[in-house]
Amino acid sequence: MKQVYLDTFGCQMNVADTDRMELLLFHSGYIRTGEVQDADLVLINTCSIRDKAEQKIYSLAKNLKPLKETNPDMILGFTGCLAQQEGERFLEKMPFVDLVIGPDGVEHIVQVIKDVKDKKLPVVRTQFDTDTNYQIPELSGETPLNPGPTAFVNIIKGCDKFCTFCVVPFTRGREKSREAEEIEQEIKLLVSRGAREIILLGQNVNAYGKRGLKQPVPFHELLYRIASIPGLKRLRFITSHPKDFTRECITAYRDIDILANHIHLPVQSGNNRILKEMRRMHTIEEYISIIEELKAVLPDIGVSTDIIVGYPSESESEFEDTLSLMEKIKFNNSYMFSYSSRPNTPAQYFPDLVSQSVKSDRLQKTIQLQKRLTLEQGKKIIGKEIEVLVESESFKNDSDFRGRNAQYWSVNFTGDKRQIVPGDMVKVIVEDATGHVLKGRALLLKGYKKLMVAAGSKT
Ligand code: SAH
Ligand code: SF4
Ligand code: F3S
Repeated sequence: MKQVYLDTFGCQMNVADTDRMELLLFHSGYIRTGEVQDADLVLINTCSIRDKAEQKIYSLAKNLKPLKETNPDMILGFTGCLAQQEGERFLEKMPFVDLVIGPDGVEHIVQVIKDVKDKKLPVVRTQFDTDTNYQIPELSGETPLNPGPTAFVNIIKGCDKFCTFCVVPFTRGREKSREAEEIEQEIKLLVSRGAREIILLGQNVNAYGKRGLKQPVPFHELLYRIASIPGLKRLRFITSHPKDFTRECITAYRDIDILANHIHLPVQSGNNRILKEMRRMHTIEEYISIIEELKAVLPDIGVSTDIIVGYPSESESEFEDTLSLMEKIKFNNSYMFSYSSRPNTPAQYFPDLVSQSVKSDRLQKTIQLQKRLTLEQGKKIIGKEIEVLVESESFKNDSDFRGRNAQYWSVNFTGDKRQIVPGDMVKVIVEDATGHVLKGRALLLKGYKKLMVAAGSKT
């Protein structure tokens, strides 16, 4: 078999696209290698969400140039969001590259490689698919590897929100949902191969099913349908948008036992003027009321978010509103970013840029605050019993396994390797909390029985 080296930048959707390319390529005779110099085909799946991501990819491309020169038969390709954004320009800047394809090119990867070989010319493929819905055909036969205990499943692609700062609607195109039946089929297959937790993926999962489906199903109904799949122990979704968050979804949190007590709900800013400028289409009061309603049905729900500091024209007091909101909600975790001007987006033309040093200072303040909030909440869990889905054995000296609890805390714990295997749901007593990681030990029942917690029970 030929060898393919795959590298991924960016979000989980890109990780899922890389996995899909690996599978498609496996069926056409490629096996994945971790050694770039051994590869017949090198594919870098790119991201362009912020300028830093873009710069990293260009420097990687430059580093790969000598390898391509010494091994001209090797095919070197760039896929994903930066490839979509730049298209021909990418090739002009990096003429040694053989293929440039956007996210909608993933399904066509095998054909594109064939075209490169046949024509002996670089190929750029950045057109979006014209179908109204989104299909990921099942591939029969062997797979290169089985899923781990946690598997990601795409339910929707693209984005129609056009927040003023964001490249995603330009790099991933219009919102398109997958038929519920196809999603259920894929999940059943993953569960039969060992997956125990499914994380539904999309830039806007709760915009699922709005249009294009032959059999329209709203997002909350999809959750109920998936939750009834036998063998599934935990269900999550990322990312949802406050604007599309419905009452029915809150009820689903109350009713579905295996729906994890965790929500990742990006807020971006704690100030209404900035939210309006960003075109987020909701207010802070609406955001707080979603969280309060969720907490009313699940008091121990873990909440995480995304935050941007230094959006054009953000004043000091508007920034402080973000800090106040963080204190109020007490996020478990925040992904915090300093605003980065992106091509194609309306915000790139907005005047009154916040200086780099002010942005850095604001970013540091949010990071420090989040550190404290995470630690305070972690400390409260010390001494408690939590349910952990074991994801893998641990490589750390002082623990045997790692996994996550429902609230998405990462947990390292000691336990008997003859008793516990990845995919088990085990009870762990928490002994310490550092940063985002809890430490503990698996509780063993009398009689040394394997500690399996009944599937579906909630922490
Ligand atoms: N679909 C999700 C998030 C997608 S991108 C949502 O709507 O919330 C992931 C995160 O990257 C965003 O939530 C935002 O916080 C950050 N981000 C996106 N564009 C950015 C930019 N131009 N500068 C800084 N951060 C950005
Ligand atoms: Fe980007 Fe906004 Fe779409 Fe999220 S909702 S992907 S931030 S445009
Ligand atoms: Fe990056 Fe594209 Fe994801 S821009 S964050 S890889 S959708």
